[in-house]
Amino acid sequence: MQYADLFKSKRVSMDEIVREVKSGDNVYVHPGGATPLHLLRAFSEYARENLQDIDIYHILTFGQLDYMDPSFEGRVRHTAWFAGGNTRKAINEGRAQWVPVFLGEVPQLIYKRQVELDVVIIQVSPPDEHGFCSLGVGVDMTLAAVRMGKKVIAEVNPRQPRSLGDSFVHLSKIHKLVEVEHELDEMQSGEIGDVHRAVARHISGLVEDGDCMQMGIGAIPDATWLEIADRRDLGIHTEMFSDGAIDLLEKGVINGERKNLHQGKIVASFVLGSTRCYDYLHNNPLIEMHPTEYCNNPFIIQQNDNMVAVNSCLQIDLTGQVVSDNIGSRVYSGFGGQVDFIRGAAASKNGRPIIAFLSTGKGGSLSRIVSEHPQGYGITTTRADIHWVATEYGIVDLWGKTRRQRARALIDLAHPDYREGLQEDAIKLGLI
Ligand code: COA
Repeated sequence: MQYADLFKSKRVSMDEIVREVKSGDNVYVHPGGATPLHLLRAFSEYARENLQDIDIYHILTFGQLDYMDPSFEGRVRHTAWFAGGNTRKAINEGRAQWVPVFLGEVPQLIYKRQVELDVVIIQVSPPDEHGFCSLGVGVDMTLAAVRMGKKVIAEVNPRQPRSLGDSFVHLSKIHKLVEVEHELDEMQSGEIGDVHRAVARHISGLVEDGDCMQMGIGAIPDATWLEIADRRDLGIHTEMFSDGAIDLLEKGVINGERKNLHQGKIVASFVLGSTRCYDYLHNNPLIEMHPTEYCNNPFIIQQNDNMVAVNSCLQIDLTGQVVSDNIGSRVYSGFGGQVDFIRGAAASKNGRPIIAFLSTGKGGSLSRIVSEHPQGYGITTTRADIHWVATEYGIVDLWGKTRRQRARALIDLAHPDYREGLQEDAIKLGLI
């Protein structure tokens, strides 16, 4: 109760809170499931008439972002550290900017004042009896933003889970707050098909009892959790935690007992998934949330033996160069934590970094294994970093292999319709 007065003194209306943003400000927005949707809607309305030269920074956010509309030109510009469905078009039309950056290093952009944040917009859980609000589903780089921003304004939402770990912001740090109540946006995984299960079966062949897992969201990770449901004592050290792992946690398959670091705990930086997943996070001492400069730091990741990191890509060439964030000159997503975890898992004792994907895209009309990336494609994971590669046709380890060995192995992982063409190209290129 002692913080009730402090809470009241900071509580304002939506109309009032958006006035905290002034023309020329650099603004940070809490991403993912924590996207402060109501406050952003009110901010957009206010900015449309009253503000100019606002720069907004964030990674993947959810929902409709009105300020991405072309009509906001000159008023609000966006810089993405990771693109999503609601920002991709603006980036590719040149109305927004995109930064290639490792997720584990985004907080350093803030701490090193590469970006000076004037206003930080967050969504937090209601304060506890000590006056601490939780950053809930997203600690990521938001903790850095809260520490470094000149002004923090917050949506306080009782639907925001009270996550534990390094996830707390004291009321005294919040300049103004507005009370809201809305469900967090959910991110649903794609449906698991036979082809995803086939990839997952190959991955599962590498997963041993006691391994420490990092997996993203999507049908391949979800299928992989199903395939490894008979293992014992699995652990998790990940940037993103999602629904796929919950059944295994409830069955005790994942218990973190053999982790070297944070034994018995799941370590994650943000949670993206369904309401079930967000509810599971609430007040759960099993899950420790940490910022990405910690979770994604390869020197931290490697301290867990037996790290298995499973990430995906859009395209790979026959030498093992991985493209995950772009389709040529078009930005698709971002570096995220892919390289952070590949490097961390590679350095972990008995670690296994895996890039897993379906062999074709666009309904089978293109091969994701290509002889060469066309001009304009940017490499996300280099061919020196690549280790295991999995498709529905198998799994191979490219690490330390020659170009010839890699080309042969990758042709075997391609869809049969494309193997002959790849073989011919590989000969022309002198790879085999
Ligand atoms: N060229 C053109 N389009 C391609 C393609 C290619 N080589 N490969 C795939 N696509 C298409 C797919 O067909 C799909 O389009 P559709 O839905 O119209 O069919 C779309 O691109 C996305 O492909 P999909 O396989 O569904 O992607 P995904 O949602 O599983 O995401 C990545 C894959 C690589 C984009 C995503 O994992 C990513 O952004 N990774 C980088 C960040 C990272 O790894 N972070 C760590 C884990 S959280």
